[in-house]
Amino acid sequence: MSKPTKECPNPERWRCEDGYSSELETVEFLEALVNLVKPKVIVETGSYLGFATFHLARPQIGTVFTAELDPTYLKEAMDRCLELGNVHGYCLGGDKLIEKIGLPIDLAFLDSGVDDSRVNEMKALKGPMKLSAGAIVLVHDTNSGDHAGHRKRIYDAADALGFVRVQFNTPRGLTMLQEKT
Ligand SMILES: C[S@@+](CC[C@H](N)C(=O)[O-])C[C@H]1O[C@@H](n2cnc3c(N)ncnc32)[C@H](O)[C@@H]1O
Repeated sequence: MSKPTKECPNPERWRCEDGYSSELETVEFLEALVNLVKPKVIVETGSYLGFATFHLARPQIGTVFTAELDPTYLKEAMDRCLELGNVHGYCLGGDKLIEKIGLPIDLAFLDSGVDDSRVNEMKALKGPMKLSAGAIVLVHDTNSGDHAGHRKRIYDAADALGFVRVQFNTPRGLTMLQEKT
């Protein structure tokens, strides 16, 4: 679990499968969001073991496209979601997956590397016809502690690319983006 930050001083109040997976509350929020806005095309970058993938796919509302660079992780993620039947996994960088998808994306969960990966994914999402009207983009790992540098890069990119943003004060930090209208 993440260390306390000024905006999230008690991270022990959240639950997590392991240090790399999303908080359970975050994946439950993703599932609730799928039920709320009913996205047809959902993208996740950074499948890892597929916990978030499973929650994005479980409502059976949209098709989930998930990208993971590590083939062993991707296999475990796909095995976890096999019974659901609406998940397509790609052993690919997240930005490359976004470039490849030929349908407008309604919901994206960017959870890949904390290097430049997610900034590149945000840039790819701004390509022609990539996002549907009102699409929601969520970027993980944006707290003001361990992820302060990442958060700054995400905020700078969001501002430069014309996204409005809302910050959720979770242990790892979650930033919601939407194109300005
Ligand atoms: C924090 S974990 C993802 C956790 C997962 N989304 C969850 O909610 O349980 C980050 C994953 O992103 C993968 N990764 C790193 N850089 C990537 C990139 N550029 N494209 C796709 N996956 C990447 C890592 O191998 C790792 O499995």
